[in-house]
Amino acid sequence: MRIVFLGPPGAGKGTQAQRLKDYLGIAHLSTGEMLRDAEDTPLGRRAARYMLAGQLVPDDVVVGIVVDRLTGKDCARGCLFDGFPRTVPQAEALDRMLAEREMPLDLVLALEVPEKTLVERLSARGRPDDDCETILERFRQFNSLTQPVLDYYGRRGILRRIDGDAPPDEVFNRVRRAVDEAMASNSP
Ligand code: AP5
Repeated sequence: MRIVFLGPPGAGKGTQAQRLKDYLGIAHLSTGEMLRDAEDTPLGRRAARYMLAGQLVPDDVVVGIVVDRLTGKDCARGCLFDGFPRTVPQAEALDRMLAEREMPLDLVLALEVPEKTLVERLSARGRPDDDCETILERFRQFNSLTQPVLDYYGRRGILRRIDGDAPPDEVFNRVRRAVDEAMASNSP
């Protein structure tokens, strides 16, 4: 299966993607993690300037690291995209990458959580980009650049909205149900 996890900062994409990865036994591609892991490279240093300002990293950089990662053997069984795509050009690039590999996208899961809860979760975590001002900029970027991606997939009929405002296990039950239903409707 190919599944995209979308949601605002702090919605629980990483938390749920980790669980779903174990459940399905497929690769987990978090562009945020990949960019943080590259911090000692020129690409990582370029990305860090945007990340610390709460802004999206340019599309060409992000698409480049996803293309490289997709060649990994572990992606053959399926992939869970966590925090990618975040712009419509990224979504179009993902469509092209998957079409070349004859791997259709099966499902897009959008985690929905009220902004007040998101701020509480992020402030409690304390990553370098979790200070108040940067969190607000990350929300602004989500609203202006990533919301249109939800509409993009909504029109394709593969978007499922999940209420993420509950304890992690309960949210995962909702995620698993949506995935099981998608798998059942895709099987011949
Ligand atoms: P990224 O690392 O993807 O961060 P984000 O989208 O801002 O999301 P977070 O990691 O903050 O939250 P999450 O939704 O994964 O929630 P999590 O499970 O961690 O991206 C960072 C930066 O990289 C971006 O700002 C951008 O600069 C760049 N970037 C990445 N991808 C990009 C792309 N495609 N294009 C351009 N730029 C890109 O949970 C958050 C906290 O809440 C944790 O402490 C967790 O324990 C807690 N929590 C989770 N679920 C629950 C729950 N149900 N109840 C209570 N607490 C919970």
